[in-house]
Amino acid sequence: MKTRVDPDLCTGCELCVQTCPDVFEMTDDSVAQAKAEVVPEAQQGSCREAAEDCPVEAIQIED
Ligand code: F3S
Repeated sequence: MKTRVDPDLCTGCELCVQTCPDVFEMTDDSVAQAKAEVVPEAQQGSCREAAEDCPVEAIQIED
């Protein structure tokens, strides 16, 4: 499973970083980014949760 954040959509609410800190982090530009494109199996559940909860649907998931 892979994930990425669309920086043009992200409003920097940081919800994804709180939900899944092992996968998402904030950049100096105050948008979220994935620490790595490939999501480790142990983080896939919380990563999906973060994508579902993002208020602007900026998190893309690819299985
Ligand atoms: Fe941005 Fe959505 Fe995360 S708005 S900070 S990608 S929850």
